[in-house]
Amino acid sequence: MASLVTPDQILKTSANDLLRDLDLTNDELLYLLDLADEVKQSPRDYGHLLDGKSVALLFEKPSLRTKLTFELAIRQLGGDSIFIEGPIGVREPLKDVARNLDRWVNGIVARVFAQTTVEDLALWSSVPIINALSDAYHPCQALADVQTVREHFARLAGLKLTFIGDGNNVAQSLMLTALRLGMDFALGCPQGYLPNPDIVAQAEGLSAVSGASLLITHDTAAALDGAHAVYTDVWASMGQEQEAVQRRKDFHGYQVNDELFAMARPDAVFMHCLPAKRGEETTDSIMEHERSVVFQQAENRLHAQKALLLMMLM
Ligand code: CP
Ligand code: NVA
Repeated sequence: MASLVTPDQILKTSANDLLRDLDLTNDELLYLLDLADEVKQSPRDYGHLLDGKSVALLFEKPSLRTKLTFELAIRQLGGDSIFIEGPIGVREPLKDVARNLDRWVNGIVARVFAQTTVEDLALWSSVPIINALSDAYHPCQALADVQTVREHFARLAGLKLTFIGDGNNVAQSLMLTALRLGMDFALGCPQGYLPNPDIVAQAEGLSAVSGASLLITHDTAAALDGAHAVYTDVWASMGQEQEAVQRRKDFHGYQVNDELFAMARPDAVFMHCLPAKRGEETTDSIMEHERSVVFQQAENRLHAQKALLLMMLM
């Protein structure tokens, strides 16, 4: 049977790499969300488009969802992946690693400690680099998250997404992605856990363009008022384990539990990138809540990343 989708029917990204959320234009982001829905609906139509392509997965940190969904996405699109775990640039300089991989593979997916590591990989390699989580961003997560919200509410603009917890990589990517799509964004975080001021400045710029509002506050009730989606993430991210005890004290009052979730709209969904620490940033009752969409988010990692791979590697 003739292929239903051909490579020239897929919009290519103008950027070579996805190092941070804003590397995709707004039009590319909207196209990606439509394509993600399409590949979710009809996966077989896209099953050959990465034929003959190989992707290296370089992970400095553990992963369940990101590793598995990239491996499956690449395989289901007809390509091949190779997984390498451990610090990048220790046994030999990063610039040599990048130039070796450049000769063998068609793309690199990298989960790193420092944002500068993905940026250096991009500097020394001509193949697309996809940021699979750094200390600053988690763009692949944000893609699946907005796909999930749009599936649930059938729109994005005009909705309010509230993140309760640490102004971390996941919060920063979500803030940028939500605001540019016209979603109001609120962050309720304790003192000392604000997002990076440079990223906040970018978010303010996006808010001015889209007209969506940005609120960063220590007041959880103000953040949650009118929220359509309530999002949280671990209090101590990977690499911050030694701060976990202090953070448990500092984040007191920021647990998304029944009381806090009730401050959002009565039809609000609960979101979490996972892995979750029940009893810390959220509770078992919220994770298992009928309006929890955490596993739909996890599923959509597969579809959103397929769309991303098609747009970057074809
Ligand atoms: N949400 C997420 O990125 O999960 P992993 O750390 O398991 O990849
Ligand atoms: N903020 C978390 C996200 C894990 C998917 C971390 O960086 O560990």
